[in-house]
Amino acid sequence: MQASAKIATATPSVSSQDERKQEYRDAMARLGAAVNIVTTDGPGGLAGFAATAVCSVTDDPPTLLVCLNRTSSAYPAVTANQVLCVNTLSHSHEDLSRRFGGKTPVKERFEGASWSVLETGAPALDDALISLDCKVRTISDGGTHDILICEVLAIKENEGGQALIYFDRRYHTI
Ligand SMILES: Cc1cc2nc3c(=O)[nH]c(=O)nc-3n(C[C@H](O)[C@H](O)[C@H](O)COP(=O)(O)O)c2cc1C
Repeated sequence: MQASAKIATATPSVSSQDERKQEYRDAMARLGAAVNIVTTDGPGGLAGFAATAVCSVTDDPPTLLVCLNRTSSAYPAVTANQVLCVNTLSHSHEDLSRRFGGKTPVKERFEGASWSVLETGAPALDDALISLDCKVRTISDGGTHDILICEVLAIKENEGGQALIYFDRRYHTI
């Protein structure tokens, strides 16, 4: 670091736990992220939810992580099936994202879109930008959420298309 560099130290505001939580939520709203629909199917049933908490872990072996709220309607099915498919959405999927990110009944969430199966049996959205079909390898405790470490067994890509990004509590296209 150059000797002339200045690092300003912000004085953190003293706040209650609720205020800190809201402050954190507001900060995270500024963290733009790709929108995905995470699906599962198997003995535990069919389920799916909208998710931005998806991140690459390593390519050796191809592994990603997904954070799943323990109170989510999809939680029992995902943890029972131990498989999931991460479908990264394009700009044309805003309505689909609202359906999977709200309180719509499971059957209705999957209606009106076309789905296929890759390796695991979890539904892959036919016109997703990418579908990453995964086996859940480990589940870690993240408090209100579980952190699912998932090995990617199959990948399907669709060329072209614009990404759907969630930023500032709104959908954007890039
Ligand atoms: C843009 C967006 C991103 C979301 N990201 C996540 C996520 O990463 N993990 C999660 O568990 N829920 C996430 N959710 C919430 C779930 O989609 C939501 O809990 C679920 O679909 C609706 O609740 P229910 O399935 O319990 O009825 C997100 C919702 C939206 C709209």
